[in-house]
Amino acid sequence: MNTLDRQTALEQAARKRIKDSHALDGDPGRLVHFYRGWASSYDLDVGRDGYCGPMIVAELTGAVQTAYLAGQRAAIAILDAGCGTGLVGVELERLGFRLIDGFDLSEEMADKARKTRVYRDVRGDVDLNGPLSDHTSASYDITVCCGVFTLGHVRPDALRELARVTRPNGFVIVSTRKSYAETASFEDEVRRLEDAGTLMPAQRLNDGRYVAEEDAHYWVFQVPKKASARTEEQPG
Ligand SMILES: C[S@@+](CC[C@H](N)C(=O)[O-])C[C@H]1O[C@@H](n2cnc3c(N)ncnc32)[C@H](O)[C@@H]1O
Repeated sequence: MNTLDRQTALEQAARKRIKDSHALDGDPGRLVHFYRGWASSYDLDVGRDGYCGPMIVAELTGAVQTAYLAGQRAAIAILDAGCGTGLVGVELERLGFRLIDGFDLSEEMADKARKTRVYRDVRGDVDLNGPLSDHTSASYDITVCCGVFTLGHVRPDALRELARVTRPNGFVIVSTRKSYAETASFEDEVRRLEDAGTLMPAQRLNDGRYVAEEDAHYWVFQVPKKASARTEEQPG
């Protein structure tokens, strides 16, 4: 096999693993099993597929911080939800952010993130499809979530917990793969949360680059002043 054929074969294999990851039906056991096997080659695979979500989410975070949040960048507390191997954390650190926590459903992916040494704290075995019971309300200035609102992973209503852990006037920044946003009716959930006063859509990059075969939307939400208190008053 010549170098070009080998390159093509690696790209096809990477694309197949990414596609397989979309067929897990949001089942925590299947997701954990799948990412346990993928953790060691994840960065190479998504790199081969031109994955640029982490850079866009980090740069949006930088722009939002400069535009709206007072104080030193190094003092802005960020939660990276579904941090995976830490690709977003590495980009955030490159931009001068220093207080970055992360969590992931997969312990193996979380362990990779820990090894980047850009996170203050990383927890594994945390399921974003349920309550983030170890995370107190209003703890973070900005919560980011990249590559997780995607096919077969997390439901749109997970946005509610991301809003709860973010402080009033703070921001939640997420990517949604285009096909996910459509099939999971992500926008309907956004409207419900907006009507409930939980999150306000603030900015949106439509059809931004994401992976080779598909674009994504990048959303910036702001948590209204009393959203966290209201969410606490209405558990469940
Ligand atoms: C495509 S990777 C994205 C990882 C990282 N954010 C990035 O951009 O490279 C999806 C990640 O979501 C995690 N994940 C899937 N379902 C989850 C859930 N219910 N709760 C928390 N993390 C989840 C997976 O373990 C995996 O690390």
